Amino acid sequence: MRIETRFCSPHIHKVEDGQELTSHVHRMIQEKTAPGGEFLGWLDYADKLSEKQICEIEEIADEIRQRADVLVISGIGGSYLGSKAVMEALCPTYGRKPEIIFMGHHMSSEELVEVTDYICDKEFYVLVISKSGKTLEPAISFRLLRRMAEERYGGDSSKRIIAITDEHSGALRTLASQKNYRTFSIPADIGGRYSVHTPAGLLPMAVAGLDIRAFLEGMKEGSREYSREFLEENAAYRYALMRSRLLEEGKHVEILVNYHPKLMYFAEWFKQLFGESEGKENKGIFPVAMINTTDLHSLGQYVQEGQRILFETVIDILKPKADIFIPGDEQDLDELNYLYGRDLHFINRRAMQATALAHMEGGVPNIIIEVDKLDERNLGKLMYFFMIACAASGLFLGVNPFNQPGVEAYKNNMFALLGKPGMEIETAEIEKKIHAIQEG
Ligand code: PA5
Repeated sequence: MRIETRFCSPHIHKVEDGQELTSHVHRMIQEKTAPGGEFLGWLDYADKLSEKQICEIEEIADEIRQRADVLVISGIGGSYLGSKAVMEALCPTYGRKPEIIFMGHHMSSEELVEVTDYICDKEFYVLVISKSGKTLEPAISFRLLRRMAEERYGGDSSKRIIAITDEHSGALRTLASQKNYRTFSIPADIGGRYSVHTPAGLLPMAVAGLDIRAFLEGMKEGSREYSREFLEENAAYRYALMRSRLLEEGKHVEILVNYHPKLMYFAEWFKQLFGESEGKENKGIFPVAMINTTDLHSLGQYVQEGQRILFETVIDILKPKADIFIPGDEQDLDELNYLYGRDLHFINRRAMQATALAHMEGGVPNIIIEVDKLDERNLGKLMYFFMIACAASGLFLGVNPFNQPGVEAYKNNMFALLGKPGMEIETAEIEKKIHAIQEG
């Protein structure tokens, strides 16, 4: 397996002078002395996961695969994006069995009604994933799903509900013990967005029929390769340092670019990882994503000629899982015969190379990450690459990459507006402020 990084803007080519800073950050990570170092359990988690734990995950996944038409997963943020990213990247898009539906990552009543209507006459299992056990969105959807399961399966419902949460504490842990649900744990020293290789990511992947052992092998390979101190041996540190140099040069927005719609949720996972880890203390690169060539017909204009605050990180998949060839046509009205017999992947990669060149010449630096093919092992390694690069990037910036204090601001307002008991003073204050805004 091969993952290579290439830095395609000449003026950012040399990173050797960043070794001292990198060594400092490297020690903070490996010795767990970084700010938030108590959340570095993900570094070697794949090595620590026992055969027994992996077998337990595979056994429950097999049971769900045999007995369910639909698995509904309730989780948000790091509790769903990792597994969704891997599934969308590797599973067939159409006709999956069992169907896996994600709920609990929004509060759209229309969407919830549609899902509950859809599953009501199907055999379903429920998997609720919440480390804290009290996040509003998954808690609401789980209430609905739990009631549906209880009404439908009675005493057997507890066999159809599986919970993944903190090992010891939290509302979900308490409920699971009371109801006798089967459970898995997210370790206390691993935050949500770094938890894709814990049961939170592995159980959904296994239900989708993916090879979680290969995924873990990729993670382990990543943990060996990207825990090297020296920049010339560690592509993840080189990437992190490039990002920090680019930010210093005024490149405030990173676009994760790929040419495969199946990587759409990989980009969502990336956005959460970097956005939540770096964006604090008025610092950080704003992560966005483009799926090309689709987005070249919409955002492409901005990238080529808009504000020069952008850089791109392009994922270049060298070998596709399947390919298709351009047929000939006698009339050639569309003038495509010059491509007759060419494989579509070749054309897609030519589009990628052409775009990277045009954007670089237009003042948008490009970092290319080459991945030889998309499979469980490579995705495991690639995710580890981004996780360690994200930790290092945050530390280069001087922020704690493992917390997310900023998300509390909207939550406090929301709970006050919902009239949560104990927040009466805040409710009155916030309602006053909102009234003032509405009055102009
Ligand atoms: O990365 C994080 O820690 C967050 O995005 C969480 O994953 C997200 O808020 C969900 O939290 P929980 O699993 O506690 O419901």
